[in-house]
Amino acid sequence: MAVSVPVIFNNGKTCPVIGLGTWKSKPGEVTQAVKDAIDVGYRHIDCAHIYGNEKEVGEALAAKFAEGVVKREDLFITSKLWCTHHRPDLVEGAARTSLRNLGLEYLDLYLIHWPQAYKEDGELFPQEDGKTQYSDVDYVATWCAMESLVELGLAKSIGISNFNKSQIERVLAVAKIKPVVNQIEVHPYLNQQKLFDFCKSHDIAVTAYSPLGSPDRPWAKPGDPQLLQDPRLQAIADRYNKTVAQLLIRYAIDRGMIVIPKSVTKARIQQNFNVFDFKLAPEDVAAVAALECNGRLCSMSDTDHPHYPFHDEF
Ligand SMILES: NC(=O)c1ccc[n+]([C@@H]2O[C@H](COP(=O)([O-])OP(=O)(O)OC[C@H]3O[C@@H](n4cnc5c(N)ncnc54)[C@H](OP(=O)(O)O)[C@@H]3O)[C@@H](O)[C@H]2O)c1
Repeated sequence: MAVSVPVIFNNGKTCPVIGLGTWKSKPGEVTQAVKDAIDVGYRHIDCAHIYGNEKEVGEALAAKFAEGVVKREDLFITSKLWCTHHRPDLVEGAARTSLRNLGLEYLDLYLIHWPQAYKEDGELFPQEDGKTQYSDVDYVATWCAMESLVELGLAKSIGISNFNKSQIERVLAVAKIKPVVNQIEVHPYLNQQKLFDFCKSHDIAVTAYSPLGSPDRPWAKPGDPQLLQDPRLQAIADRYNKTVAQLLIRYAIDRGMIVIPKSVTKARIQQNFNVFDFKLAPEDVAAVAALECNGRLCSMSDTDHPHYPFHDEF
């Protein structure tokens, strides 16, 4: 099997092109999933405080270190700053909480999870009368606090997630350290070509989240389009003798993205990593890209937040 070629960040550090997603992986399942992933060859795990399972991810890492299967420096671990901790004086504590839960001394990558800030020091989704409570902290101020995490050695690289073009421009205008990555939703129904091109033009890598169409997203409804069941994708995958999931993962890689499929099922974890023995022909990349239909699956409900990212064209 061909080896995977890592993506090189604008700070010279490298990131394995496939990472294991952990959103919705239950605490009782995620430890085994991360162990299985490491055994299969994954060296990149995508985590976040809001996923509520970093402690159990950390248990898997500790087990694999103790077994001598991997060393800390072999792994690439991402975590994300939640919206209630954007205020600059809260950022270091939030990073330290994730580090403590994961049992690590540094993160390879720490991201601002969303540009919107929520009311601090309360619930992760602070509510009043059924409505999320916002904070007026500007993500630009948050970015400056993220930079000090690099200076403190708590994060090797820092980045953003769910930021649109003008939000990235505002960060770049003040950044002493440029974001290395923007982690965004990408799959054939939401290609993100314009945002991807914009990020590339600023040497910011893109990580594709929900690459399989996030069929286990909590708000999925019966009758919603199912990427993994799309017969047009099945026909292309069949020609390569691969599954639709493998086609979708390869589609992100062949466009030059990092990709983080989630699974807690060993056979799928294995299958999703078995994509280094084929490459999509340019006409097949184009055929998959033609399925674009502005099919966003992950948008927060706080559309009236001044920093809600998805009103702009991209
Ligand atoms: N930055 C952000 O705001 C953000 C937002 C969303 C996601 N993310 C990250 O991106 C990761 C991936 O996105 P996602 O979790 O939304 O969805 P996804 O990776 O697109 O899809 C995960 C679903 O696909 C199933 N699956 C995995 N491999 C499969 C295969 N080979 N065949 C059939 N089904 C398969 C999984 O089932 P089983 O687990 O049951 O096997 C699970 O139900 C997340 O876990 C998270 O780390 C980040």
